[in-house]
Amino acid sequence: MLNIAVFASGRGSNFEALHRTIGEENIPARIAVVISNNSAAGALNLARSFGIPALHLSQRQFPGPADFHQAVLQSLAQYRTDLIVLAGYMKKMDAAVVRAYSQRIINIHPALLPKFGGEGMYGMHVHAAVLAAGETESGASVHYVDEEYDRGAVIAQQRVPVLPGDTPETLAARVLTAEHTLLPSVVKQIALNHRP
Ligand code: GRF
Repeated sequence: MLNIAVFASGRGSNFEALHRTIGEENIPARIAVVISNNSAAGALNLARSFGIPALHLSQRQFPGPADFHQAVLQSLAQYRTDLIVLAGYMKKMDAAVVRAYSQRIINIHPALLPKFGGEGMYGMHVHAAVLAAGETESGASVHYVDEEYDRGAVIAQQRVPVLPGDTPETLAARVLTAEHTLLPSVVKQIALNHRP
């Protein structure tokens, strides 16, 4: 059984899709904890409604970054985390955590990396940039996380067309639908290959 810690800052639809697919497809994985830097994150409420431990952990609760990262590592150990899934987590993952979970942290990004990634490329900024560049397709990427934004090796991508008349919002909605199948499918592969 693969123990997953999900980090999410926002609404949590990717977390929800992952939770649902794990159940529907009998994936040998369990979301052991959801962690958010944002106490008002929809993801935390969803987790509570599913009976999954929901932790609000923010730098602001600690005297310094080292204490915060220590607390994150402690929670990850407490829930026997095998895999960290960043699903709309708006903070950069600390280097100490990245080192401790090397090759065991994945992120979902709403574009076809390496295009439209990096600092500042989040939310609607990504889709606005794709439209401004005149791209004819976009999509979602799941990649390993290293110490730089959106730079780790891409594991899988799902493409969607950019349609005439698209706005950042309509494109975001189409990409999000792709995200909701891509992320669970990658987690499924990792879970099936996982040897505890
Ligand atoms: C998704 O578009 C994801 O690719 C990005 O943040 C968004 C999170 O959406 N990293 P949600 O909170 O999973 O609904």
